[in-house]
Amino acid sequence: MAKAPGSHTVIGMEGTYGVREFVADARRIMEVPGGAADREAAVRELEPLLQAALWGPGWTDDEYATTVDGRPGYRYYVNDDGSLHVYGVLFRHDRPTPVHDHVTWGIIGVQSGEQRTTRYLRRDDGSTPGRCSVELSADGVLTRGATYPLLPPHDIHRIEVVSPGEGLSIHVLGADLKRQRRRIFHVDAGTCEEVEGVTMAR
Ligand SMILES: [Fe+2]
Repeated sequence: MAKAPGSHTVIGMEGTYGVREFVADARRIMEVPGGAADREAAVRELEPLLQAALWGPGWTDDEYATTVDGRPGYRYYVNDDGSLHVYGVLFRHDRPTPVHDHVTWGIIGVQSGEQRTTRYLRRDDGSTPGRCSVELSADGVLTRGATYPLLPPHDIHRIEVVSPGEGLSIHVLGADLKRQRRRIFHVDAGTCEEVEGVTMAR
């Protein structure tokens, strides 16, 4: 399968710039006055840093290990209002997420595993409740070092680990999804449903 358009991969060597350095930089960019002014600027500044950090240390350190809805994962950083949230989800082989959105800016990075990543553009204006028209924009298998931005309303995606075992997906988001009202999309039917407080990991 071809590399997904709109995703970026830095083929790196193991480096010293890892999760700690990335979180420090993300906080510097997002949490200080005069930092990133809008969500596009945030993504532009943070994405190359995440690409570099994915080749560095720390992502599976015990100190970050946590359990989310009974599934193991990692929490690297979240601030009080959830406006900067950096965490890792272990998706399992053959357990794809539904097609869903986040309703916030974000960058997703692949730290391990082969992750088939499908993305969609929103094509309707949302004026009819329950109707959601989406169009496939990218479909490819991403590996370590790959990143892609998610900017609403085009933050609709699906992740499926196609290699054996688990794949660690790094999420850098502008909200705590547990507090976020968002959607699951039924692409062929052209419908969507609102959900809240649920995880997309299966
Ligand atoms: Fe997601």
